[in-house]
Amino acid sequence: MKEYARGARGEGRVIGLVPTMGALHEGHTALVARARQECSRVIASVFVNPKQFGPKEDYKKYPRDLPQDAEKLALVGVDVLFAPETADVYPDGFRTYVHVEGISERLEGRSRPGHFRGVATVVLKLFEIVQPHFAYFGRKDAQQVRIISEMARDLNLDAGIVVCPIVREADGLALSSRNAYLSDQERKAARVLYRALLAARNELAAGVRDAMQLQGVMRRIIEAESLAVVDYAEIVSADTLEPVVRVARPCFAVLAVFLGKVRLIDNLFIEPAPGESEEFVFQL
Ligand code: PAJ
Repeated sequence: MKEYARGARGEGRVIGLVPTMGALHEGHTALVARARQECSRVIASVFVNPKQFGPKEDYKKYPRDLPQDAEKLALVGVDVLFAPETADVYPDGFRTYVHVEGISERLEGRSRPGHFRGVATVVLKLFEIVQPHFAYFGRKDAQQVRIISEMARDLNLDAGIVVCPIVREADGLALSSRNAYLSDQERKAARVLYRALLAARNELAAGVRDAMQLQGVMRRIIEAESLAVVDYAEIVSADTLEPVVRVARPCFAVLAVFLGKVRLIDNLFIEPAPGESEEFVFQL
């Protein structure tokens, strides 16, 4: 992979990387399509990264279907599918990790200790191997994108981080490889995430600026759905992901919700006054 990347760079190609864990859906292929527009060589990685799963999480049962992923990637025009073996990514004796302090411990990090250490470590490794000019990430994982951007800044990485909008089902549910775990009933109930986020946006539009109040709106809507249990429902600053007291600047409403054993996350960009676009550019 490194040799290919070096060769492509030598020929003046612009390399775009789309890191994934496979079980690809239209959220992933939208990232590839964007990379295809902007880069002359598009590389997608499929690697279910054991270091970002907790001991009680779904690493073992995470959906894996490499042949089908390869077909989907061929259709959207990927040049290279990079699907390394676990033992090649983490050979015996591996003990170097990247930890972006502070932000890695909140929200997803609080519920999933060590998760972002695993994410930052594998993404840095992928950057070193693939040497991308640009790397494409979905805003579905807003905290992940923020952490990767901070790592790129702090470690002087060359790759430009490109953030792409969330792809949703017709009823608003954000596409996720984990949606495959949902029973029919849980799938129906899962609409409640987007409904709660929209309610927060509507309340804000109606003049409610108090973050606690907006969080309460989201919680009440989710708690009214008997199959759903809130893990967190917060309003955070769009550029730092720190909690806010009042929505005076662009923010994200962020959610993690259990439907049975399945944990789903989602977020929505909200702002006090119209004018800022949905595709908010992270300020670093
Ligand atoms: P994975 O969950 O497979 O997601 C790969 C990329 O697809 C991420 O950037 C994610 O934000 C994006 N994505 C997922 N669902 C999306 C949706 N509905 N709309 C838009 N983008 C979406 O995120 C990971 O893998 C891993 O943590 C990884 C970065 C590959 C490191 O292992």
